[in-house]
Amino acid sequence: MGLRSVGAWIVLICLAAPSGASGPPLCAVASAHPLATRAGIEALAQGGNAFDAAVAVSAALAVVQPWGSGLGGGGFWLLRRSDGREMMVDGRERAPRAATRDMYLDRFGNVVPSRSIDGPLAAAIPGAPAVLAHLSEHYGRLGLRVTLRPAIRYAEQGFLVGGAYARAVRMREAALRRWPAGTAIFFDHGRLPAPGFRLVQPDLAVTLRSLARHGRDGFYGGAVADRLVREVRHGGGRWSLRDLDEYRPVERKPIVSRHRNLAVTTAAPPGGGAVLIEALNVLSAYDLSRHEPVTRTHLVVEAMRRAYHDRDRFLGDPDFVAIPLNRLLSLDYAAGLRTTVRLDRALPSVHFAANAYPEPEGANTTHFSVIDREGNSVAATLSINYPFGSGFVAAGTGVVLNDEMDDFAARPGTPNVYGLVGGEPNAIAPGKRMLSSMTPTFLDDGERFAIVGTPGGSRITSMVLLATLDFAAGAGGHSMVSRRRYHHQYLPDRIEFEPGALSTAEVASLRARGHEIKALERPYGDMHAVIWDRRSNRVTAASDPRGEGSAANWP
Ligand code: DON
Repeated sequence: MGLRSVGAWIVLICLAAPSGASGPPLCAVASAHPLATRAGIEALAQGGNAFDAAVAVSAALAVVQPWGSGLGGGGFWLLRRSDGREMMVDGRERAPRAATRDMYLDRFGNVVPSRSIDGPLAAAIPGAPAVLAHLSEHYGRLGLRVTLRPAIRYAEQGFLVGGAYARAVRMREAALRRWPAGTAIFFDHGRLPAPGFRLVQPDLAVTLRSLARHGRDGFYGGAVADRLVREVRHGGGRWSLRDLDEYRPVERKPIVSRHRNLAVTTAAPPGGGAVLIEALNVLSAYDLSRHEPVTRTHLVVEAMRRAYHDRDRFLGDPDFVAIPLNRLLSLDYAAGLRTTVRLDRALPSVHFAANAYPEPEGANTTHFSVIDREGNSVAATLSINYPFGSGFVAAGTGVVLNDEMDDFAARPGTPNVYGLVGGEPNAIAPGKRMLSSMTPTFLDDGERFAIVGTPGGSRITSMVLLATLDFAAGAGGHSMVSRRRYHHQYLPDRIEFEPGALSTAEVASLRARGHEIKALERPYGDMHAVIWDRRSNRVTAASDPRGEGSAANWP
């Protein structure tokens, strides 16, 4: 069964800049959960900026969407300051020091998939709490004691869960039931919870309070760190206090590129933006609007195929591997790739490399975007990877640990849970960050500015690509988040499409060009977008109709 993509996304835009300034006239927040959206609004209403709101939303999502992201996970926070400076705060998890290249292999050298997915051995050192402290200290105004307040309240008082929560618990029931701490929190007196169940998380509230009071040391040191390490090691994981103590977020220059008249700012490695830009560059020589829709789809798929192929070959943690980024992102390189693109034929991926692949599955993650009335903006995609991460809660902390170790190539050349075949650059090494598909992105054509992103595993980057092409063609936020989607990731060599994305005639035409096609039974993604239209001075926020998110303006 394909896992449904679940995620959270917040868009916050504060327009109505102080007189004379050129910011937007309102604030808007769109996220995957109404309570997270409300937390962001609360921060703004207290005089916070977009970065404070981002902290409030991230923390609230950890409580109200515990299967998608959280203190036990990581992510990328893409920032734009009112002065136009842009940066990416890399809060991706790192492999613990005791990680080894072959830690998920059996004695015959074969990958044992469950080991990198279920339980504390699958968990890498979390980055999210360090980023919340970092954003608060260097960018925000309110401080963690104020911005974490809504999250603490939701954890202490509880909230009524919706259908997505109930589905996620059902999906990960076996993993969650293996450890008593998680079973006690997420089940309804031991039974599968139904929508309407009140989820109360007192231990998580204590951990959040510790973070609020002591900053990063409240998570990476002291009693919380002691507990995390003790529990992880007791459960068979390999963390040490030193791993936690050493974790630091990294500020990286985002990838900035142009696609025709559009400025695109997106996640640098280990995030997924390079794949987005490479695909856009391949497409840059075509006037897609002049082609019939099916040829357009064919061309976009061929661009995806080539960009995802390079992902597998070249991308990994830039602090560990030399990535030929300038070459991969150059228009000349794209022109070279384009020479093998034909309008009438697919180029089978087997001509790039051969392999066999299991069913790729989507899972869980979350995205949010914020802009304030000064023009400060945040697009953040956060993850604990699989729904409920590793399924492991360190007893006494309420923190669900990620299973982001599965985003490494457990054995280079062997696909992970999303069917992605990582190469040597993404092999496991102590202290290394695993490659990600997460692609929080800003789009700016001078007149309109968009903040966009989505969860969806390996399909994240192709979703952002389709949204970017839509935006470049003049589409607004609502159509970007709701459009029907298709995907190709080089391997497995096939186009996957959501119900309704391709007509029967289009499927036939693509097959005639040599494409293998797979119709998906269910939709995927949970995209949220905020658009500031400077011409009309309007801000719109849109939440993906596939999810349970909400968008709001303030004041
Ligand atoms: O970082 C990544 O690429 C994955 N851990 C993201 C997982 C994800 O989006 C699952 N979502 N539906």
